[in-house]
Amino acid sequence: MNMTASANDAPLMQIRNLDKSFGGVKAVDDVSMDLRAGIVTTLVGPNGAGKTTFFNLITGNLTRDGGQVTWLGRDTAGMKPYRIARAGVGRTYQDLRLFDGMTVWENVLNATEHGAFPVPISRAHRIARRERIERVLERTCLADKRNTRAIDLAYAERKFLSMARIMATEAKLWLLDEPASGLDPNSYERFLAILREDVAEGVTVCIIEHNLDIVIGISDRIAFLDRGRLLADGDPHTVMNDPELAKIYFGDRE
Ligand SMILES: Nc1ncnc2c1ncn2[C@@H]1O[C@H](COP(=O)(O)OP(=O)(O)OP(=O)(O)O)[C@@H](O)[C@H]1O
Ligand SMILES: [Mg+2]
Repeated sequence: MNMTASANDAPLMQIRNLDKSFGGVKAVDDVSMDLRAGIVTTLVGPNGAGKTTFFNLITGNLTRDGGQVTWLGRDTAGMKPYRIARAGVGRTYQDLRLFDGMTVWENVLNATEHGAFPVPISRAHRIARRERIERVLERTCLADKRNTRAIDLAYAERKFLSMARIMATEAKLWLLDEPASGLDPNSYERFLAILREDVAEGVTVCIIEHNLDIVIGISDRIAFLDRGRLLADGDPHTVMNDPELAKIYFGDRE
């Protein structure tokens, strides 16, 4: 048996029997999933399905009621969110959580402090960091806005700033919570192009997305959540063409 190959086949993140309730509501109900290197997984499901809660559990932003999450083979139980982030799990937020009073540059610089560079930082690292941020601002078309405060950006620019923040880190896994929602078609084409480049460079993505063009355009695999339960997990066309799931997704359940 080739041990090296089998080690490389191990999922980056392994999620088993994850549970979380809020009062009487089971927001995440016995969800198990593997996130494998290089696979783009899209989480879909109606509003309130538990998608964001699932992210909050695997990033340590919320404490799970039950289940296990391992990252690179290590159990993350009890790890603070910043530790999980520094270990290579990056995320964006549905409500963006930018630093509104800070400039574009400062927002991205702040994100690199999540483990992309050592602290205290050497001169060589400082130069490398500046170059990395420059490149990210070019790619997200924010270079001309570097001195603009986040609050003064247009909606699409704020979404791209949220992406720029994760792009500037060295996270291996990107958890993206509706990064393209509300974007105009031009912007989401640009968003998809950026994402495809990063995936080609080796980033692993798990994305929550409602726009079916984006879902089909990017996913290797679709995981369908409803009322906290993982109802399907597999090939995008199979999942999206399932009439029972379509009824749930489009709010037409019996
Ligand atoms: N902090 C909280 N306190 C209480 N209930 C919560 C909390 N966070 C989420 N919930 C509830 O848990 C369920 C799942 O919510 P969640 O935000 O994870 O759904 P979602 O799939 O991300 O939905 P959306 O598509 O609207 O973003 C919902 O019933 C929601 O009201
Ligand atoms: Mg959500």
